[in-house]
Amino acid sequence: MIEITLLLNEKSEEPLYFQIYQHIKKDIISGKLVANTRLPSIRALSSHLHISRNTVESAYHRLIDEGYVQSRPRSGLYVVELELDKLPTLHSNKRKPVELIEPDNAPIQYDFRYGDVDIAHFPLATWRKLTNLSLQSEQVELFSYGNPQGEHGLRVEIAKYLYDSRGVNCSPEQIIIGAGIQYLLNMLSSLIGSTNSNIAIEEPGYDGVRTVFRNNGFSTHPILLDKDGINIYKLYESKSRIVYITPSHQFPYGMVMPIAKRIQLLKWAQDLDGIIIEDDYDSEFRYVGKPIPSLQSLDANQRTVYLGTFSKCLLPSLRIAYMILPPELIALYNKQDYRLYDQTVSWFHQKTLELFMNKGHWEAHIRKMRNVYHKKQSTLIETIRELMGEKVTVIGENAGLHILLRVHNGMDEKELIRAAAQKGVKVYAVSHYWEKQTQAEASMVQIGFGGLSNEDIVLGIHSLFQAWF
Ligand SMILES: Cc1ncc(COP(=O)(O)O)c(C=O)c1O
Repeated sequence: MIEITLLLNEKSEEPLYFQIYQHIKKDIISGKLVANTRLPSIRALSSHLHISRNTVESAYHRLIDEGYVQSRPRSGLYVVELELDKLPTLHSNKRKPVELIEPDNAPIQYDFRYGDVDIAHFPLATWRKLTNLSLQSEQVELFSYGNPQGEHGLRVEIAKYLYDSRGVNCSPEQIIIGAGIQYLLNMLSSLIGSTNSNIAIEEPGYDGVRTVFRNNGFSTHPILLDKDGINIYKLYESKSRIVYITPSHQFPYGMVMPIAKRIQLLKWAQDLDGIIIEDDYDSEFRYVGKPIPSLQSLDANQRTVYLGTFSKCLLPSLRIAYMILPPELIALYNKQDYRLYDQTVSWFHQKTLELFMNKGHWEAHIRKMRNVYHKKQSTLIETIRELMGEKVTVIGENAGLHILLRVHNGMDEKELIRAAAQKGVKVYAVSHYWEKQTQAEASMVQIGFGGLSNEDIVLGIHSLFQAWF
């Protein structure tokens, strides 16, 4: 058995147990403590370091939980074989392996990543059954590339669903299916790009989309937001004839554009013979008030391109999104040989989704997930209010799978993220959502809650509280 000697700092903000845990973990990772080394017993270490047994016990528990050591019955605790030498970077840089693991940070226990979805409620058994069913069909598509625009049956289901839920008026012939919104916007960019090279984008807005337009040669014009969404006056001023917008749930701020502003926006499109690109990415998750009809459904002049995705309500890994083109653009799509572009979404997934929608599972799933996420969101906001009160401002709590948190403790974005990581919590930067960095909020982070359980949300917010206040 080895002896463990370390200098404990009684005055540190880190509890003693955490200092012991960190010390042993570092020694294991750096190879100082090799596999199968037996750790001192709780009694021996506590008397050696003159600390309580509970403190040693807590440190050992954490090491066990994280898999660094293992208990062997009637024998004690042993260092686990980590096979670190199989990691090429660690192997080739044996003297400094610890740096790669960021020793200052606790391992991430609570990841508030926006984009993660609830795993526990995904209807895996139904999905498996329907995938199987789709494979049993004897259709020739099973053996071919499939329809370039997306399977007709799925487009019929999407058109039905959008008419019922969002008032969207379209025929299946106007729908193009593709592997994600960025892919579809790439296609749209080349469709409309030859005549227009300026595009207005909400500031802040989704940087994943801004990049796509830029890479397609567009100049982007960031348009600041009012409390109720994009500033229409500034939109006119920008002289752009195209705008990309998230009216149902502004990304990332989360405001819902009221009907009066939607009408102003449609008037703008009419005045300039412009195009509105409406991204309705998470319209299923509205927790407060009645849903407002989509812009597309209000647009008598048919100037709106409507986009939606199955990434939020179903699974991001499916990579299924759709774009609804107004008649003028679908005519262009047909004329410019886009039919030669092969479909990017697998036929199996499309067919499975069609069956999922057609047999009523989709509606039921949305209802269920709306409740699941509403509960998570309430837990998140209640815990934040209870612990942090006036020390923070919560933004965007009426809808969606994320919120923004403005933190009033003097830390900037980087410091907030770093302090959180040191307590084992991952929260995310928002400054990249601003095209003009000077306008970005200084002390704000993004908190996604879709992928965490209610229990982890509570525990994660408690850790954040410790990290920041
Ligand atoms: C505003 C917005 N639109 C679209 C998407 C992504 O959609 P997809 O996964 O279909 O590309 C996201 C994802 O984060 C988003 O925030």
